Amino acid sequence: MRTDRPKVTVIGLGSMGSALASVFLRRGYETTVWNRSADKARTLVDQGARPAATPEEAVAASPLVIACVLDYEALHGILDPITASLAGKSLVNLSSGSPEQADEAAAWARSHAADYLDGAIMTTPPGVGSPEMMFLYSGSQTAFETHRPALEVLGDPQYLGSAPGLASLYDVALLGLMWSTMTGWLHGTALVGAEKVPATAFTPIAVRWLTAVAGFLTTYASQVDDGRYPGDDATVDVQIATIDHLIHAAEARGIDNALPELLKSAMERTKAAGHGSSSYASVIEALRNPADGR
Ligand SMILES: NC(=O)c1ccc[n+]([C@@H]2O[C@H](COP(=O)([O-])OP(=O)(O)OC[C@H]3O[C@@H](n4cnc5c(N)ncnc54)[C@H](OP(=O)(O)O)[C@@H]3O)[C@@H](O)[C@H]2O)c1
Repeated sequence: MRTDRPKVTVIGLGSMGSALASVFLRRGYETTVWNRSADKARTLVDQGARPAATPEEAVAASPLVIACVLDYEALHGILDPITASLAGKSLVNLSSGSPEQADEAAAWARSHAADYLDGAIMTTPPGVGSPEMMFLYSGSQTAFETHRPALEVLGDPQYLGSAPGLASLYDVALLGLMWSTMTGWLHGTALVGAEKVPATAFTPIAVRWLTAVAGFLTTYASQVDDGRYPGDDATVDVQIATIDHLIHAAEARGIDNALPELLKSAMERTKAAGHGSSSYASVIEALRNPADGR
C-alpha cells in the first residue's frame, strides 16, 4: 500500500460529505471516512476510501479532519467523547451553524489542542471539486495555510480572517443575497409571464441586468464604508416613484406585491431619515436602525 499520498479524514457522509470525500479520492488523497450510518460509506469504500470503525479511528488516521454533518449538535455528539484524539489535529468544520457556534467550537478545539478552521460551502454537492466554487474559511490561519493544497481540491478557498465566526456570517449574508435575488427574479418572471413571456426568454435579459447591478454594488460599497451617499446617479426619491410603477404593474396582473412593498417601505424609512436625495446605498441606514421612521 502506498504511504506517500496526502491523508485526509472526512466525518459525515451525507450528500455533501460524500461529495467531499469522493473528490479527495479522485485527486489521489488517502481518504479515511466515517459516518454514523455506516452503509453510506459503502460507495466511497468501493472507490478506495478507508472506512474507520469509530470516530476515534477516523481522527487518528489523518492530520486533517474535515467534518460535514447536519449541525453543531451532531458534531459535538461525535467528537465530544473522543476529544483526547484531537490533539495536534487540524479540524475543518464544514457543517453549517451560527457565528457564535463557530466561536465556541474554536475555543473548544483550542482547549483540546486542536487547530480549528470553520468553513462555509458556497455550492451544492455537484459543484464540489470545481475551482469556480468558493469555500469560505475563518479561524486558524495556520490550519488554512498548512492545508491549503487539500482545501484547493474542494474548490476555491477564501480565507476571511482569524475570527472563527466570519465564514458563517458571510454564509448567511450571501444566502440572504441569493434569496432576495432569486425572489426578485421570480417576481419579474411572474410579471412578464402574465403577458405570456416564457421564463427562458426573460432570464437572459435578467442575467445581463444583474451584471449591471453588480457594478452598482461596487460603486455603493465605498459609499457605505464612507457613510456618504451622493445621489449623483439615482436618488431615493426617484426610486420611490419608480417602484410605484412596479407595484402598479404587478397589481394589475394579480401578482403578489409583498416583496416590492417591503422594498418601498425601506426606501420610505430612508427618506424619512433625511436621505430622499441620497443614493440607494443610504437604505443601509434604515436597515441598521430598524426602529427609525416606523
Ligand atoms: N447539501 C448542500 O447543498 C449543502 C451546501 C452547503 C452546506 N451544506 C451543509 O453541509 C452539512 C451537511 O449537509 P448534507 O447536505 O450533507 O446533509 P445530509 O445529506 O442530510 O447529511 C447529514 C449528515 O449529518 C449526519 N448527522 C445528522 N445528525 C447526526 C447526529 N446526531 N450524529 C451524527 N451524525 C449526524 C448524517 O449522518 P447519517 O447518515 O447517519 O444520518 C449525515 O452524515 C449541513 O450543515 C449543510 O447545511 C450543505
